[in-house]
Amino acid sequence: MEKRNKRKIKITGSGFYVPDKILTNFDLEKIVNTSDEWIITRTGIRERRIASDKDATSDLAIEASRRTLEDAGLKVKDIDMIIMATSTPDTLFPSTACWIQKGLGADHIPAFDVSAGCTGFLYGMILAESLILSGTAKRILLAGAELLTKITNYKDRSTCVLFGDAAGAMVLEESDDESGMLSFYWRADGQLGELLYQPAGGTRIPPSIEALEKDLQYLAMKGNEVFKHAVKRMGEAALEALKSAGLKKEDIDYFIPHQANIRIIDATGRRLKVPKEKVYSNIDRYGNVSVASIPICLHELKQDGKLKKGDIIVMDAFGAGFTWAAVVYRW
Ligand code: ACO
Repeated sequence: MEKRNKRKIKITGSGFYVPDKILTNFDLEKIVNTSDEWIITRTGIRERRIASDKDATSDLAIEASRRTLEDAGLKVKDIDMIIMATSTPDTLFPSTACWIQKGLGADHIPAFDVSAGCTGFLYGMILAESLILSGTAKRILLAGAELLTKITNYKDRSTCVLFGDAAGAMVLEESDDESGMLSFYWRADGQLGELLYQPAGGTRIPPSIEALEKDLQYLAMKGNEVFKHAVKRMGEAALEALKSAGLKKEDIDYFIPHQANIRIIDATGRRLKVPKEKVYSNIDRYGNVSVASIPICLHELKQDGKLKKGDIIVMDAFGAGFTWAAVVYRW
């Protein structure tokens, strides 16, 4: 399932978009029984961005995609596929990728969604690799966006402090040099689905007044269970992906973990023995933005001029499903 390719795909453009509106921990103190101190110590989050009521997930993704195409020096007509990772689609159907296609004014190129919780962006990268190296697509726009605040229960202090809204994107195409995706590892365990899910809204519990009265439309999570599995599985994914690239943990120049909780990030970093300065985190500014976290981190590192040619980057995620994956990338 995992492989090490001589031919590789690489990131030729990246970008992100976050809404302007900021919700701080102090704002949350006025909504639920919590404190800035509790949230910072337990999660590392200081503030998160909130989309406006009229925004849908694709609105954020379209803006991130435009910025990404500009970064790549490309026009919409230059891409030949759109893959969108999200757990908070505009509509159950059509896919959010199709709404993005409409918004960008893209031609009749294939467009579809990937649903793998917070791991969705890495699942998208892995799919894009196969599609590009098999000749099915040449240049893929991969977007990842969530409007988690629209499925967050602001009466539940154990979840409402965690999430924010954001979008990130990348353009992926075949590499013409040594840089690119070296290996990957991906897994899922559906037995544990109910530890992190949105109970109502699909066919298991269709939308109804009764479901709304029980708050079943909101994200439900057993936080400490998610925590334990996340640390274990993200460690496994990074080590297996490194092994399949013929690399060791000492070779990591930058570790980009999914931004779920600073304690998960630190614990995974310690497991991999990656020095703190090599572990990237922006959770203090955005909170958990699910699929958008990894492309945002990568773009910030790039923008800050921190990435040097040849650097080994490990991107690592865990999310609803449960799903987990890692990608090893040479910059
Ligand atoms: N403010 C103050 N107290 C709180 C808050 C809050 N916001 N939330 C919970 N508490 C209380 C609890 O009620 C509990 O009190 P009690 O001991 O009196 O019962 C106490 O704090 C400890 O609660 P725990 O749930 O054990 O706290 P924990 O240290 O596990 O932290 C947290 C909770 C932050 C949710 C943590 O478990 C976590 O981050 N888990 C992982 C979450 C995650 O990564 N989710 C990914 C989802 S993303 C996706 O796929 C869409």
